[in-house]
Amino acid sequence: MAIIKVDSSDNAEFLSATEELREYFSALSVKKGRKLTYNVLTYGCQLNESDSEKLEGMLTSFGLERVQGKDELTMADVILMNTCSVRENADKHLFGNLGVFKNGVREDPDRIIIICGCMMKVPENVEKIRKSYPYVDLVFDPQQIHRFPILLRDSIRNSSQLINIGSIDYIADDDYFTISRLRKFRALVPIMYGCNNFCTYCIVPYARGRERSRDFGKIVSELETLKEQGYKEVMLLGQNVNSYGLNNEEGKTFKDVLAAASDIGFNRVRFMSSHPKDLSDEVIDLMADRDNIEKHLHLAMQSGSNRILKLMNRPYTIEQFLDIAYKFRSRVKEGSLTTDIIVGFPGETEEDFEQTLDAVRKAGFDAAFTFQYSPRPGTKAASFDDQVPKDIVSARFDRLLKLQNDLAYKSNEARVGRSYEVLIEGISKAGAGTYTARTLSNHLVNFTIPEDILPKGCLEDLEGRLGIVKIERARPYSIDGVLERFSDV
Ligand code: SAM
Ligand code: SF4
Ligand code: F3S
Repeated sequence: MAIIKVDSSDNAEFLSATEELREYFSALSVKKGRKLTYNVLTYGCQLNESDSEKLEGMLTSFGLERVQGKDELTMADVILMNTCSVRENADKHLFGNLGVFKNGVREDPDRIIIICGCMMKVPENVEKIRKSYPYVDLVFDPQQIHRFPILLRDSIRNSSQLINIGSIDYIADDDYFTISRLRKFRALVPIMYGCNNFCTYCIVPYARGRERSRDFGKIVSELETLKEQGYKEVMLLGQNVNSYGLNNEEGKTFKDVLAAASDIGFNRVRFMSSHPKDLSDEVIDLMADRDNIEKHLHLAMQSGSNRILKLMNRPYTIEQFLDIAYKFRSRVKEGSLTTDIIVGFPGETEEDFEQTLDAVRKAGFDAAFTFQYSPRPGTKAASFDDQVPKDIVSARFDRLLKLQNDLAYKSNEARVGRSYEVLIEGISKAGAGTYTARTLSNHLVNFTIPEDILPKGCLEDLEGRLGIVKIERARPYSIDGVLERFSDV
């Protein structure tokens, strides 16, 4: 499959389509006598969130205003769903919502419905939309994002459903887009796209195409701009950040990107995800040595059984995985190690599952995303014979969850009585007067602020501020504390 690079010198048509859309929506706004709005619904991982930030930037450049929330779901003039296909549950959101959109389109035929994201790389889904949802205006896949204005313009010009699913892996550099960053303090920065690993259960390589790394210089200049704009945290993104640069000739590795982000001087540099086969000792050393690189490693284990890892096409043994875990623990002080685990992969026996429990105990994960295996159409494992019955998967899943919850609680409990610097994310769902934040090790903290620091009723926006919090209590998924002082003034 071809990989084609496009950069801002290629975007003349993009700009002319943007201009045409601005004129179209401006005329429509005059006709309706009000401002026009868009609503973007995003499912899936941070890479999808990052794509949505680009799409929102484009929608804003057409002159539309953002609205959010379920109530506005069918009310916005342009509704875009950025879908995820990683597990079956993710698929359900789309077809549930599409039924709801129908009424919205009946009320206002000018309303535009757009579907994109990883689900659109599964031919059955696209076929279903073509057959059963004629009021969907535009369908495109994650590799077509840099063509969004052109596709939307064409669908409006022809007043017909436009389906555009390509077979070329583009790398459109981020200087191509105006990005509407959704958080004030954290900027998402993809450093690479796609995946070459073809784990046998996973849809991502089919949905996102082959691995392609962004140019090192372009990443660095984006990071410098973000620093100038006042972002305190950057999150370097990729399905497998540790293989950054392996497929281009610049000779730069992930360690170089991480060191550059750290040198630029953000308060925090985070990254997701790492693959055990590519994580280097140099990266662990850098995490240990730099104060502004998060002390958190997310390293997907998937299974504790070597037999299952092989069937999954995960090229490491559980012994190698645990070696990395121990190295991280011994090198990175108060580091937090998190993981992904799949339960009920085809052929998983009770013995395989026991090995997973054993590995979880040995690694002592601070937190884990645990998943029941979900067969994805088109992946190798979906055609494996010995699929595990649902009731067995579900019973194993509960046992794993219980063990992991105990470990997470222990990890949280170990923080009680200490003070940590946290980056404040906003008001907490935990209740009035409580804020939410994260430590450098990515522990979720809910905290209150004494009145002598911030008088009651003072609704100062604290998102992005740094403070020192004394931890007083552990919960299974978070730790609670009290702010001692702000640390950024
Ligand atoms: N690239 C990342 C890595 O390898 O660490 C993983 C990204 S994937 C979007 C997130 C997680 O979803 C995977 O680590 C895996 O545990 C889970 N996952 C992927 N496909 C799955 C499937 N078919 N059924 C259940 N869980 C799945
Ligand atoms: Fe999926 Fe494996 Fe690629 Fe992660 S490394 S995105 S699990 S194929
Ligand atoms: Fe989902 Fe695609 Fe991410 S399948 S998890 S949105 S790469």
